Amino acid sequence: VAKPATLQDASSFPVGFAIDPTAMKDNATYQKTVLDHAGSFTAENVMKPSRINAQKGVFSFDKADYLIDVAQAQGKRVHAHTFVWYTNTAPAWMKQIKDSTELETALKTYIQTVGTHFKGKVASWDVVNEAFDNTTGEIRMASVDDKGQTLLNLGGVIGKDYVARMFQYAHHADPGALLFYNEYGQETNAKKLDAVLKMVTDFKKRSIPIHGLGLQMHININTPNVGIENAIQKYADTGLMVHISELDIAVNPAKTKDLTITAELLEKQYEKYKFVVNTYKRIVPVKQQFGITMWGVSDANSWIPGFCSCTDFPLLFDSQYKTKRAYDGFLDGL
Ligand code: XIL
Repeated sequence: VAKPATLQDASSFPVGFAIDPTAMKDNATYQKTVLDHAGSFTAENVMKPSRINAQKGVFSFDKADYLIDVAQAQGKRVHAHTFVWYTNTAPAWMKQIKDSTELETALKTYIQTVGTHFKGKVASWDVVNEAFDNTTGEIRMASVDDKGQTLLNLGGVIGKDYVARMFQYAHHADPGALLFYNEYGQETNAKKLDAVLKMVTDFKKRSIPIHGLGLQMHININTPNVGIENAIQKYADTGLMVHISELDIAVNPAKTKDLTITAELLEKQYEKYKFVVNTYKRIVPVKQQFGITMWGVSDANSWIPGFCSCTDFPLLFDSQYKTKRAYDGFLDGL
């Protein structure tokens, strides 16, 4: 049987990619791969607060608008990422605010301005990204990370219940958008998984608008299948939309500087992709299948090597944009 021509042709749910608008504009192979295979776009970086609102009062929408223009012309969905994120990449001016009312107002203004700008053009928003602490499973309260870099201390400055309020602001800004909470490590961190599920129960009780959950799924070839299946199952059980929002599967879990890629590693990666896609399709009811988004297009532009300071090949296309065994794994999982 001939393989379907593209990922989106083969898939009954949207297949997305995290996209860099500059590569989209300048690199014809990158662009062709995206346009052929994607049904959904997420901006890898250009819709983050650090990019849109680096300086207080100044909003830069050009790169995001370009991506949205391409999406609209090509009939692709846009999933927006992200309104609120605590990391050191948060706008410097925002990280400096230590007064609770002032920070709350800044976030509210940000969400209102940006949400209104993209209203009607994006299907959905990641409203809050990575709110829970890996160790405690509680709302993050740190103001510096382990490298001494300043964080946006949302929990510490505006209080532990801030997530709910951000969802209310987002709903007010764009009542038609589907609102997601996005988190990582749900496959391996039981405390954080529990925290997200408790938050959803609480939101439902208080009628806080939330429509979906994003499982980032930055995993590797050794991530236990049982953890992957458990996270997908628990998310599906909430009845909300489920988005595998940032999928990549590293082949170098030891994060060594050099790695020779072997057929054996590529085969393990094939198996893991197949398992993730198949588990998603098998477990998540069709009406809750928001889709699977790949975090990057080819191994030439994955964020993983920069993040781990190691060699890796985590995506479906190799650095020449040729399909890998991982690509077959995605298709075979469908
Ligand atoms: C990453 C991008 O891929 C990098 O280019 C950037 O330098 C840092 O952010 N979780 C998220 C994404 O929610 O926004 C991150 O994206 C990867 C981890």
